[in-house]
Amino acid sequence: MCGIVAYLGPRDAVSVLIDGLKRLEYRGYDSAGVAFLNEGSLKVLKKEGRIAALEEQLNSHKWNSRIGIGHTRWATHGRPSDVNAHPHLDCSGKFAVVHNGIIENYGELKASLEKRGHHFVSETDTEVLAHLVEEAYQGDLCAAVRSVLRQVRGSYALAVLSEHEPGKIVAARKDSPLVLGVGKGEFFLASDIPALLPYTREVCLLGDGEVAEISGDGFRVLNGDGVFLTRKTFHVDWDQEAAERGGYPHFMLKEICEQPRALRETLGGRLTPDGARISFEKLGLRPEVLKSFQRIFIVACGTAYHAGLVGKYVLEKLARIPVEVDLASEFRYRNPILDQQTLVLVISQSGETADTLAALREARHRGCQVLAVTNVVGSSVAREADHVIYTWAGPEIAVASTKAYTTQLLVLYMIGLLFAEARETIEPEEAAAIVAHLKVLPEKVEMILEERELIRELADRYSCCKDVFFIGRGLDYAVALEGALKLKEISYIHAEAYAAGELKHGTLALIEKGVPVVALATQEELLEKMVSNIKEVKAREGVIISVCCGEKREVEEASDHLIRIPDVPSFVTPILSVVPLQLLAYYMAAARGCDIDKPRNLAKSVTVE
Ligand code: F6R
Repeated sequence: MCGIVAYLGPRDAVSVLIDGLKRLEYRGYDSAGVAFLNEGSLKVLKKEGRIAALEEQLNSHKWNSRIGIGHTRWATHGRPSDVNAHPHLDCSGKFAVVHNGIIENYGELKASLEKRGHHFVSETDTEVLAHLVEEAYQGDLCAAVRSVLRQVRGSYALAVLSEHEPGKIVAARKDSPLVLGVGKGEFFLASDIPALLPYTREVCLLGDGEVAEISGDGFRVLNGDGVFLTRKTFHVDWDQEAAERGGYPHFMLKEICEQPRALRETLGGRLTPDGARISFEKLGLRPEVLKSFQRIFIVACGTAYHAGLVGKYVLEKLARIPVEVDLASEFRYRNPILDQQTLVLVISQSGETADTLAALREARHRGCQVLAVTNVVGSSVAREADHVIYTWAGPEIAVASTKAYTTQLLVLYMIGLLFAEARETIEPEEAAAIVAHLKVLPEKVEMILEERELIRELADRYSCCKDVFFIGRGLDYAVALEGALKLKEISYIHAEAYAAGELKHGTLALIEKGVPVVALATQEELLEKMVSNIKEVKAREGVIISVCCGEKREVEEASDHLIRIPDVPSFVTPILSVVPLQLLAYYMAAARGCDIDKPRNLAKSVTVE
């Protein structure tokens, strides 16, 4: 949560900071602020609300600044307000700090700072950092920051600016992301790479516990013991367009529509030359290693967890290996039964989700090998896992995850095939047939997207409803869970998903005249049962919106509205059937005038527990 930027160089620092904050706004957006040196003196402006409010305040004056730090906040300690917004200052007003993460021992630190005469103005944990730097400063900002970091427990990505050393920014990170961008005679810091792309493509990733000092002379990186490290930059060749809205009203719609490309890129380059088998170059999991695992644990949060639920069906069906799926926030505290024959598969779009990262560490600590599926190169999850498979979805900016989910599903099918081949649970012809189906999925998604006007009409019609239920069986149930999450998080309509067979065990009591029920009916072998469940809802005068695969007369007859997805084998439908649900959520939220890309109370990257 929270986004950090910093700039040092010949440009107008305030403009660069505001631009960077806008690109990071998805990480938190309840307040924002900047600190910069204006003709040598430290200025701090911060404001509750969106970055536009801060920008308006800044625009009322002409500044002359070449160095500054900025922050967009998602409140953890202290409610959203001007005073709790970052940057935070020490008592002298000479040190400004922006911080993403949580200082766990801030209570005790604050109490002892207060005893020593420090005066606090905010309710945040971050403010202790500013006061600690003030105390530790003896003419060397970098040394002061390092000494402060030895006193704090918790997670941080931070940047410090001081009037005492006007040509310098000191930054550090531990368990929260921070990247350094290196331009010609200029330097940038940001919480993620897309925020840097308009300025530079040369990036240096800071490691956990490392401190960076940037100045007009260059940058240097030190470890916690003060030892200088050699850090090379690497070139990022992401398309900048991909990180911008490109004519779409919202990032979410753009990202939904990017799914065909994202799927093609995720599959491309991972096929054998004859196109019949999956092959992950550089993946250290050789067939004999794959064969040695007796169990798989899939661990993730939110949408990535829902992808994991599909992964369970896929892996168990293809490779006949037992799979457990766990929420990362539960896994880490429930003492799961793990051994060296358990592969822990973590899924995380951002690669920075605190609970997922903690689960990964727990699994490694217990001697398990960890395979990560993530979208962000160089993210903490990618760096700490034993093996990594990237989803090549490109930057996902909208808070609601869409293209990351479908590419995660695709990777899970590919992993299923790898395991199945190693465990000899699949015939080569059957594997080749599945690969062939995966290859045509991008075109099929395009077909669904072309029909999106129909979904918009449906969404407009039901956008005023209070509750929506999603039902399905088998793989459809896993997708129903994702459909309900999408709808509730961006439209604020109460939505719940149920295994269709469970309705009669309680939920049916909630169905009354006019309540929309989205019924996923794509699983051929469960169709009859699903039609019976649809009829149970119809008998209670619920409105049925069915999603089915190709022509299904029995589903059509039982439904009020029908969304048809292209005919594909039941086994691969999740990658298609979720798309109308994403669109339904999007258009319902649009009809209700919601802030789709930045839903209330949420943030894109959840780097706190
Ligand atoms: C929902 C959504 C979240 C994330 C979850 C995990 O649309 O985006 O539920 O899926 O916060 O995030 P990652 O995948 O970055 O670990």
